[in-house]
Amino acid sequence: MTLLPIIIAPDPRLKITAKPVKTVDESVRRLMDDMLETMHAANGIGLAAPQVGDKRRVIVVDVVDEDAEPDPVQMANPELLWVSDEMLNQEEGCLSLPEHYAEVERHDAIRVRYIDYQGEIREREVAGVLATCIQHEMDHLDGILFVDRISSLKRNMILRKLSKTKKMAAAPA
Ligand code: NI
Repeated sequence: MTLLPIIIAPDPRLKITAKPVKTVDESVRRLMDDMLETMHAANGIGLAAPQVGDKRRVIVVDVVDEDAEPDPVQMANPELLWVSDEMLNQEEGCLSLPEHYAEVERHDAIRVRYIDYQGEIREREVAGVLATCIQHEMDHLDGILFVDRISSLKRNMILRKLSKTKKMAAAPA
């Protein structure tokens, strides 16, 4: 497995619309493995393919719940079949926007259909943090970052800080 470099916002590669995979073959499985390893190494709970420069509709999530076993989920072509009317506000972060957090409103519960690691079509109904995380990662597949769902004032502040940090990192010492 390989650790992949994570793209930091603002970056046009985070604004793409990712393409569905035809099947989950060896190459998609390798991407899923690498993404999971990359996410764990970065202490994240979710990662989407565009964040590592891949244009396929693939996400991985691993939300460790107090009363549940570690349960990494790899999804190709995830789609929402149903969402609850109830909404949930939770603080979100993102490996592409390091050290920035904001409260985002999402559906409290969702039903999602996807192709799993074995190539099987699956449906799952989930709620709470896992539902939030899946919605956040699915947004990445359509070029949407969590800052696109908060006030433009706060969004611009975060993106400005990030681009400043990037420029400083790129500048010769
Ligand atoms: Ni993210």
